[in-house]
Amino acid sequence: MVSQSKTPAPEPSTTNMPSAPPAVKGVAKTLAQHHKAVIGFLLGFFLVLLLYTFLSGQLVSSEDAIVRAVTQQSTAAVHTDQDGRTTSPTSPTSTSSNTTQDNLEGKNTERSSQPAVNDEASDKMEEDLIRQDIDQAGTKNGTNHKPGAPRKPICDLSDPRYDICEISGDARTMGTNRTILYVPPVGERGLADDSHEWSIRDQSRKYLEYINKVTVRSLDAQAAPGCTSRHAVPAVVFAMNGLTSNPWHDFSDVLIPLFITTRVYEGEVQFLVSDLQPWFVDKYRLILTNLSRYDIVDFNQDSGVRCYPHITVGLRSHRDLGIDPARTPRNYTMLDFRLYIREVYSLPPAGVDIPFKESSMQRRPRAMLINRGRTRKFVNFQEIAAAVVAAGFEVVPVEPRRDLSIEEFSRVVDSCDVLVGAHGAGLTNFFFLRTNAVMLQVVPWGHMEHPSMVFYGGPAREMRLRDVEYSIAAEESTLYDKYGKDHPAIRDPESIHKQGWQFGMKYYWIEQDIKLNVTRFAPTLQQVLQMLRG
Ligand SMILES: *[C@@H]1O[C@H](CO)[C@@H](O)[C@H](O)[C@H]1NC(C)=O
Ligand SMILES: *[C@@H]1O[C@H](CO)[C@@H](O)[C@H](O)[C@H]1NC(C)=O
Ligand SMILES: *[C@@H]1O[C@H](CO)[C@@H](O)[C@H](O)[C@H]1NC(C)=O
Ligand SMILES: *[C@@H]1O[C@H](CO)[C@@H](O)[C@H](O)[C@H]1NC(C)=O
Ligand SMILES: *[C@@H]1O[C@H](CO)[C@@H](O)[C@H](O)[C@H]1NC(C)=O
Ligand SMILES: *[C@@H]1O[C@H](CO)[C@@H](O)[C@H](O)[C@H]1NC(C)=O
Repeated sequence: MVSQSKTPAPEPSTTNMPSAPPAVKGVAKTLAQHHKAVIGFLLGFFLVLLLYTFLSGQLVSSEDAIVRAVTQQSTAAVHTDQDGRTTSPTSPTSTSSNTTQDNLEGKNTERSSQPAVNDEASDKMEEDLIRQDIDQAGTKNGTNHKPGAPRKPICDLSDPRYDICEISGDARTMGTNRTILYVPPVGERGLADDSHEWSIRDQSRKYLEYINKVTVRSLDAQAAPGCTSRHAVPAVVFAMNGLTSNPWHDFSDVLIPLFITTRVYEGEVQFLVSDLQPWFVDKYRLILTNLSRYDIVDFNQDSGVRCYPHITVGLRSHRDLGIDPARTPRNYTMLDFRLYIREVYSLPPAGVDIPFKESSMQRRPRAMLINRGRTRKFVNFQEIAAAVVAAGFEVVPVEPRRDLSIEEFSRVVDSCDVLVGAHGAGLTNFFFLRTNAVMLQVVPWGHMEHPSMVFYGGPAREMRLRDVEYSIAAEESTLYDKYGKDHPAIRDPESIHKQGWQFGMKYYWIEQDIKLNVTRFAPTLQQVLQMLRG
């Protein structure tokens, strides 16, 4: 049987990553923070990837259409004046969490491994989701740290993003009770002498109401239920629901935190997943089975009493779509993460050059051009594709569709030198790019430069990709035609944001599509071409 657990025990520290995405100062600090909060939830609701062809015809498709189930949040006004240093929701809202859960579950049972887009509901869903986030961010300090909350060695509630519990020795689970027990050695009272118990959300967003809580407490050996199975390896308990199904959140909220928390075990760890999402398991099977070589346990349905030498409850997370190497057991970086993902998907190893350079044949660099499904879409997609070709690239246009596996799609992304798309979750595919490939992000109208940097530009640079932003002119936004040049949404985005987050969202995230001026865009394409050749 097992004696010693090999616990990773990374020490949380407060070190900030020097290379964190630069904060925009000046003009729009508040606005930027506001954006930052909003955007986390907007990153391409329906990131949908569909690989059409290489301009020539055969149709390869891809999936990633998303449905986000959404809460019936009240429409009460929310604050936009948060001082937010982080974008994670840090305080509960006043909403009913069971409504939320009901809706989520209702949705989730409807969808299979390939969630479908419900177009009619999508705007509403997107809006509600953002509202929820802002609402949470707005009451930031709120009940963050409950006064007098027990601080015991088992659980650490001090991080602003996540709660985590580590139990070593005799750890037992009661899945159907959502409970994890610490059973102290006989004769040691441990923590069993008082009423201390912890109730935490076992994912990286500790205040997100979508996540049901799990209970951690200690119980004397006489009172504890007997083991129905004993396991030699450690276990990690975490939730798969929450904001997942938007690929950006899949990575930011679950996969990166899971990597941070469990990579050190090298597969010798078992996952006990509360609120298991079958589509998530299907979609990210390669990553999950690499991080753990044992069966995933559907924790909510698990009626046995499992005994482990060590259990971690919750996932560590350092920031949005990011890793602070100083806080990981082996100094993992975002670059390590991208290379790890590439390895898991059997893409060429770290040393390989971008496809354009690697190939001995004198061919054009290849650009994947991603369109969005519903919001911030390129209305002149064909014209843009033609402009990319005219600039000297081979183009791989990708439109919203949902029938290609991530495995197949990752190979197509890997074959590209450039990933081009409007700000949104489609850019999350940058994990499959090679070192020194370029991410060209089209930044929509309305002061969206800051969130664009924070959520994509910064991480891209950390992963040793080259990052280029093209900020559209007002004339390239469909808002310009719709409202005219004198409307405040065009003339003065700042004034729109000041009216409240709903307004900025309405115009810039939801209503806006993009009609690129390919003449104005051309120099940016040339810049990218020079980068690739250089
Ligand atoms: C939440 O769930 C409890 C228990 O199921 C129920 O009594 C209560 O009415 C629910 N609240 C809402 C708002 O649905
Ligand atoms: C949040 O808490 C910090 C530290 O206690 C404090 O400095 C800051 O002013 C608070 N912000 C708000 C909005 O209450
Ligand atoms: C687990 O939950 C069941 C049903 O809710 C309850 O009967 C049982 O006593 C619980 N077990 C423990 C050890 O709390
Ligand atoms: C995970 O992937 C790495 C790299 O491909 C491989 O060396 C390792 O054996 C894999 N681990 C498991 C548990 O599959
Ligand atoms: C991690 O980084 C720290 C500081 O840069 C260094 O002291 C330490 O040796 C590194 N650890 C590993 C395993 O590389
Ligand atoms: C497109 O951009 C070019 C170069 O910036 C500019 O001269 C032209 O007026 C723009 N066209 C439109 C329709 O805005």
